[in-house]
Amino acid sequence: MFCRNNARLHGKVVIVTGGSAGIGYEAAKILAENGARVIIASRNETKMKEAKKRIVEATNNNNIDYRTIDLASLKSVRKFVNETLQLEERIDVLINNAGAVGLPDRLTEDGLNLTMQVNYFGAFLLTFLLLPMLKVSAPSRVIISTASAMFVGTADFDHWNDIGRYNAVKSLANSKLADAMFMVELDKRVRGTGITANGMDPFLVRNTDILNNVDTVVAEISRVFVNIVGRTRKEAGNEMAYLATSPELRGVSGRNFKFCHVIFNHWLTHDEKLRQKLWNLSKKLVRITTEEDWENRSRA
Ligand SMILES: NC(=O)c1ccc[n+]([C@@H]2O[C@H](COP(=O)([O-])OP(=O)(O)OC[C@H]3O[C@@H](n4cnc5c(N)ncnc54)[C@H](OP(=O)(O)O)[C@@H]3O)[C@@H](O)[C@H]2O)c1
Repeated sequence: MFCRNNARLHGKVVIVTGGSAGIGYEAAKILAENGARVIIASRNETKMKEAKKRIVEATNNNNIDYRTIDLASLKSVRKFVNETLQLEERIDVLINNAGAVGLPDRLTEDGLNLTMQVNYFGAFLLTFLLLPMLKVSAPSRVIISTASAMFVGTADFDHWNDIGRYNAVKSLANSKLADAMFMVELDKRVRGTGITANGMDPFLVRNTDILNNVDTVVAEISRVFVNIVGRTRKEAGNEMAYLATSPELRGVSGRNFKFCHVIFNHWLTHDEKLRQKLWNLSKKLVRITTEEDWENRSRA
């Protein structure tokens, strides 16, 4: 299903994490087609350079840039943010699309579970640090990639960063549950600022790289299944661009979307106390400093 989106984006700045491949690449291309300045953010510079080249050729929009970020490193996220705040005059949209499954079961240099950090803590930190800029650029939007896997996730915050406790599916599920809860809490915390936050569950998407880290037999079986029932990358990217920019979604916030429509979110996203606990714990684990903490500043 393609969502109708006639947004004109000249003068708008959009960051797409994971914009070098898969769904993020397709979203970046559509946003570029519609005139936005697009910043692709991921790890591999060669891939980003190639993605930029293809997007410029396909859209005639030269205002495409790329910047390195590794969501598995708090230091790398902070570096990306510092560079971005220096180089950009505004940020109209932040799309937290990058994600991974089947990563090694290990801790990062920051002492967090690798899958949790790539899929959730990295995006939390990135979003938290960019919020002041998103606020001055309002109306602005934050999109967070969720997944139906979240429904088998558990909110066992004390163990989310454990090693040897969860298999690849469960780690993915926990991280996507965190994303969904974060999205709803973010919406509550930025109400009235002109920033909106929504989630997108892409369903199953054909021909992306997401299964590349998964054990080969499992990956091959999954690929066959996804190729039969999945949607195209272009469809998913189009939906992401629609959520990020469509005028008809102005002011819509705190929702989880699938196939261009609002769908039910995980039941735990309605638990205010649990969401607040996750928010505060996340701030602690990504080591938000007094200087970075705009929440404290706005309370003072
Ligand atoms: N494909 C599906 O069927 C499906 C279903 C449900 C949800 N999703 C979600 O949709 C999102 C996009 O998936 P996709 O299928 O398009 O994935 P993909 O083809 O594997 O692309 C992933 C993108 O994220 C980047 N990335 C990976 N690890 C990163 C890191 N540590 N730091 C920064 N960037 C990183 C990759 O670039 P580098 O490797 O160069 O960094 C790449 O640009 C993910 O969040 C995924 O969980 C996908």
